[in-house]
Amino acid sequence: MEDLLQKITSLCKRRGFIFPSSEIYGGFGSGYDFGPLGVEMKNNIKKAWWDEMTKKQDGIVGLDSAILMSPKIWQASGHLAAGFADELVECKKCHHRFRSDFLEKDKCSDCGGELTQPKKFNLMMKTFVGSLEDESAMTYLRAETCQGIYVNFENIVNSMRLKIPFGVAQIGKSFRNEITPKDFIYRTREFEQMEFQWFCHPKEAPKYFDYWQEERMKWYLNLGIKKDNLRFREVDKKELAHYAKKAVDIEYKFPFGWKEIEGIHNRGDWDLSNHSKHSGKELKYEGYYPYIIETSGGVDRSFLAFLIDAYQEVEGGRTKTTESKKEVEVVLRLHKKLAPVKTAVFPLLKNKPELVKKAKEVFKLLKPHFAVQYDETDSIGRRYRRQDEIGTVFCLTVDFETLEKDDLTCRDRDTMKQERVKIDNLVDILKEKLEN
Ligand code: GAP
Repeated sequence: MEDLLQKITSLCKRRGFIFPSSEIYGGFGSGYDFGPLGVEMKNNIKKAWWDEMTKKQDGIVGLDSAILMSPKIWQASGHLAAGFADELVECKKCHHRFRSDFLEKDKCSDCGGELTQPKKFNLMMKTFVGSLEDESAMTYLRAETCQGIYVNFENIVNSMRLKIPFGVAQIGKSFRNEITPKDFIYRTREFEQMEFQWFCHPKEAPKYFDYWQEERMKWYLNLGIKKDNLRFREVDKKELAHYAKKAVDIEYKFPFGWKEIEGIHNRGDWDLSNHSKHSGKELKYEGYYPYIIETSGGVDRSFLAFLIDAYQEVEGGRTKTTESKKEVEVVLRLHKKLAPVKTAVFPLLKNKPELVKKAKEVFKLLKPHFAVQYDETDSIGRRYRRQDEIGTVFCLTVDFETLEKDDLTCRDRDTMKQERVKIDNLVDILKEKLEN
C-alpha cells in the first residue's frame, strides 16, 4: 500500500500536480509547490468548500485576515505555552532529533545511539518584522488561521449586523515547525487550512457540534470519497488540544493508515475570553461569551485524500476490443468539480490540416469557459490515456464527419461512452454536464 503513495507522488510530478519545493537546490524542508494542474485542483477544492460554507446557509460570512499578526495574539491563544509543542528526544551521539510519539525503538533510528529524555519543542515559526532583528520586532507566522477571526469578532458582528448564531469562513496558509514532516503533502511545515467558526449560545453548542460534524462528512462524500475510506474518531480527553472541550476528527484511510484530514472542535469560550483578558476589549455578545464550534480542514490533506481515492489502475488497459495485451492504465476518477482539466480537444489525425484547423477553433471556443487542453500528438488511444491519467472529464474528437455535420465525439472519462454533439451547442451542453 505504501507503494501507492510512491505512485501518486510520481504521477503528481510527471503530470504537473505537485513538485518538490526548491528542487534544483536539493529541496527545502519537505516543502512542495503545486504545479499547473495542482493549482487548478487546489482552487477547485477551495471553491467547493467556500461555496458549501458561505452560500448554502444564512448568517455565514467570509474573512481573509493577515498571516503576520501581533505576537500578543499567540500569547492569549495559548500557542506559545507548552501545550502547542511536540515532545522531542535527541540522540546523544549524532544529535538528530525525533518526535517521541513516532519512535519505534528506544534507540536512535539513524545511528543506534542512546536517546535523551523527551523535551517540549514549540511549533510556532518565528520571524522579524521591520528593520530590527531583536525581541521587540519578533512575531510568528500564524499556526492556525482562526485566530484572525476571533480578534475580528467585534468588527465582523458590527459591520455585518450579525445575530447569534452566525459563522465565519476563512481559507489561508498556516505554518508549523513540524519536526517530522512526512507522507508527501500530508504533514508539511507550510500548509493551507479551510477553517470555519460557528458562534453560538453555550447551551446550543452540543447540538451544533453534531450538526457541523455531519455536514462536514457529507462534503467529502458528495465530492466522491468512498464511504469505507472515511470515519469519525472522537479524540480522547488526554489528547485534546489546549483550546478544545471536545473534538472529533474526520479520518481518511491513507496508504499509511487512518489519519486526520479535518477536526471538529468545541472551543467553548476559550478564545473570546482569553482575547478579552489579554486585550482589555470585552468580546461578548449580549453580555455572554458565545461558544465556538470550529471545523478545521487542511486543503493539502484533502487534496491528497481526493487523489488517492480517485486513483485506479486497470490491468491490461481499459479498452477490451484490441487483442494485444496492454500495460496497466491509470484513470483518475476525480469528481468533475475537482478535476483540474474539464475537457480536451483532439483532431483525429494531425496530418490533416482541415481537422487540425477545426479542432483549434473548438479549443478557442471552449477556452474562455473551461479548463481545456489541446492535444494532437500520438494516436487517439494514447491521447485518451494521457487525459484519463489526469482525470479529464470529457475528451472531444474532431473527425471527418465533423467537417460535414459540424459535430464531434464527446467521450465520457468514466463510462468511455461516446456521443456526437453539435459544436453550436457544445458550450451549453458541457456546462450542463459539468455543473449538474
Ligand atoms: N484551528 C484548529 C486547528 O488548527 P488542527 O487539528 O491543529 O486544528 C486542523 O489542524 C487541520 O489542519 C488538520 O486536520 C489538517 O488537515 C491541517 N493540518 C494541521 N497541521 C498540518 C500539517 N503540518 N500539514 C498539513 N496539514 C496540516
